[in-house]
Amino acid sequence: MHYSVMPDPIAENAVDCLVVPVWKDGGLGAEASALDEMVSGALSRIAESGDYLWDLGDTHLLHCPEGCAAGRILLSGAGAADELGAMEAAKFLAGSVKHVLARNMPHVHFALGDLRHNGPDAQWLAARLAQEAEVAAYRYTTTRASTKRQPALEGLRISAMDDGLDAALNEALHKGRAIGRGMNRARELGNLPGNICTPKYLASHARELADSFESVSVEVLDEAQMRDLKMGSLLSVAAGSVEEARLIVLHYEGAGDDSKPAVLVGKGITFDTGGISLKGGLAMDEMKFDMCGAASVLGTCAAAAELELPINLVCMVAAAENMPSGKAIKPGDVVTTMSGKTVEILNTDAEGRLVLCDALTYAERFDPACVIDIATLTGAAVATFDSHANVVLGNDQALMDRLLQCGLDCLDRAWQLPLWDEYQKQLDSNFADIANIGSKKAGTITAACFLSRFTDKYSWAHLDIAGSAWHSDGARKGATGRPVPLLTEFLLHLSNKD
Ligand code: BES
Ligand code: MN
Ligand code: ZN
Repeated sequence: MHYSVMPDPIAENAVDCLVVPVWKDGGLGAEASALDEMVSGALSRIAESGDYLWDLGDTHLLHCPEGCAAGRILLSGAGAADELGAMEAAKFLAGSVKHVLARNMPHVHFALGDLRHNGPDAQWLAARLAQEAEVAAYRYTTTRASTKRQPALEGLRISAMDDGLDAALNEALHKGRAIGRGMNRARELGNLPGNICTPKYLASHARELADSFESVSVEVLDEAQMRDLKMGSLLSVAAGSVEEARLIVLHYEGAGDDSKPAVLVGKGITFDTGGISLKGGLAMDEMKFDMCGAASVLGTCAAAAELELPINLVCMVAAAENMPSGKAIKPGDVVTTMSGKTVEILNTDAEGRLVLCDALTYAERFDPACVIDIATLTGAAVATFDSHANVVLGNDQALMDRLLQCGLDCLDRAWQLPLWDEYQKQLDSNFADIANIGSKKAGTITAACFLSRFTDKYSWAHLDIAGSAWHSDGARKGATGRPVPLLTEFLLHLSNKD
């Protein structure tokens, strides 16, 4: 898809469709009014007809309006002008993009300027449009022999709006495109079935990613190398599976050697049966999504490289499959982590923390500026927040505040839970330094408590994305690509600091 900023007046734009917002009262903005004059009032007649309320989602499509070079004009409801915040603008853009994608309109121009009111600014709108366009264009087809062909969007244009804004708008389009593509990379990896997307598959995907960017290199540790590093906890999760574990480490270099890297660590359980503590059968297929943390790390790595961010970044994926077998770990088994601490495995279904703890210890060697792990870690996060929030916990309030703010800015929101000492004692064990589960209460917090035992040496935040990473319902079922927007926004913030 090609994006551009169009300096000429909108009416001279010979695209397949012009998308024009209409406010709730039928009012038109400056760009739309100029266009309305060119087409002899055809827009205002429809806008003011009373046929539509012009809520978000209300649309009217005109064909071949005389006086205008475009093939069609899509009037699209924007709701009440003073109620248009970022969330509403995002809905407007997503809905309008979906509308043009459902028809045969490869070249489209968005009159975004009229959307600026009290809400989001021109750059935000441009970036979001590109992101929504990329995300809407994605279809999962890889394991489907027959899929309906859908018309593609080939070119998206926006108006230049104010003088001198061209460069900033082009940059914003570039940003939105990179985030959207990063999300689609994460969605595709998440959607792939467990019999294709194995730890080895994730490793080969990471190698391809590194091959496609000069700035990215990769190392992949196999089980023998992890054994040498004494990663007894990570390896214990893979023990029951014929699929070997992998620890994938991508290095993105966008700054000099003296710049400490941000480190992202993704949970990459390519299928989670629960192991010997076997899960119930209901919706177990969804445990193919248990590598969505890893997928978001890979998507964010690609976005950072595409945006050539002036930072250093290490992206790690702890990949394993959690299966029951004669070789699998059992409740009561004790394993020794790379840190030297021992863990009593009371429930083999609490496997995410077991792979993450060794990866978090390995992260120390990169002398990180900060470490963020991303994991579909607990059902309790789904029970608490449904799909709306990424849950954040950690040992550095400034880091968490930054993540919360970035989540608000890009609408990939997070909410913090407390990591108070009172919860830590749930992990006491009579037979090891730490138990891998607490009581039935406060599951998201005790999971983070477990991770906190391995993150003393650096500034750390944990994102539990069990709710946000995929949709479980009907036609929407599939990976969401979250929290690629949040992570990329965070890295953009790091880039803008001197
Ligand atoms: N991958 C699951 C968490 C999960 C479950 C995410 C359902 C989304 C939907 C994780 O490995 C797990 O099984 N967690 C257990 C931990 C428990 C045994 C302490 C859970 O949350 O039930
Ligand atoms: Mn599990
Ligand atoms: Zn899991």
